[in-house]
Amino acid sequence: MKKKLLIIGASGHGKVVIDIAIKMNKWKNIAFLDDDPLITECMGFSVVGKTEDAFKFANEADIFVAVGNNEIRENVQNNLESAGIKPPLLIHPSAIVGSAVEVGIGTVIMAGVVINSDTRIGKGCIINTAATVDHDNRLADFVHVSPGAHLAGMVEVGKKTWVGIGGIVSNNLTITGNCKIGAGAVVVNDITESGTYVGVPARSIR
Ligand SMILES: CC(C)(COP(=O)(O)OP(=O)(O)OC[C@H]1O[C@@H](n2cnc3c(N)ncnc32)[C@H](O)[C@@H]1OP(=O)(O)O)[C@@H](O)C(=O)NCCC(=O)NCCS
Repeated sequence: MKKKLLIIGASGHGKVVIDIAIKMNKWKNIAFLDDDPLITECMGFSVVGKTEDAFKFANEADIFVAVGNNEIRENVQNNLESAGIKPPLLIHPSAIVGSAVEVGIGTVIMAGVVINSDTRIGKGCIINTAATVDHDNRLADFVHVSPGAHLAGMVEVGKKTWVGIGGIVSNNLTITGNCKIGAGAVVVNDITESGTYVGVPARSIR
């Protein structure tokens, strides 16, 4: 653990991520990197360079990717990892993480989240505000579980799938990778084809 943390992405998601980093109280110095030259600061924290500068700072700073888009987050984190950079795991102090839970590098677990026993969460995931992920889940890399979404026990979610705000996934189900599950959708059957699913019960719209 280094004394400095650089967060890639000075956006709304970055604001929530930096708040978690502050509350973890592990880094003395926190700043952003962002590719938009018009953004020079975010919530009083300086933007000190662009994404590519992460490699320059890697010896002195931990680097975290705070990009909401699963595809972009995967690309940026994979580039960092190729250069030997391992992003930290960020966990809000109010999150409850059960026994035998494993979480990959570069994942953020936000305020009020509950993750129950024996669940595995991949790298670069976002488990957003007040989401719950129950026992024995298997979430692949770069999954996003949005605020207030609930995954029952024994759920499997494939790489880069996004469960929208307030989404519900019933127990023992598998959702394949690269899916978008709409806000408020209720998944009651396995989803085996990548695509966008909305409604109650969730149905494909494309
Ligand atoms: C599912 C979603 C990704 C689809 O977005 P999109 O591809 O831009 O789709 P559109 O907005 O063009 O909508 C397509 C159709 O699906 C419907 N639809 C979209 N989202 C829906 C939802 N969550 N529930 C029910 N119907 C929905 C639209 O009304 C539209 O219907 P129509 O063709 O009869 O007019 C998006 O609507 C959504 O729910 N995003 C989740 C947002 C979220 O969770 N944000 C939290 C971020 S932390």
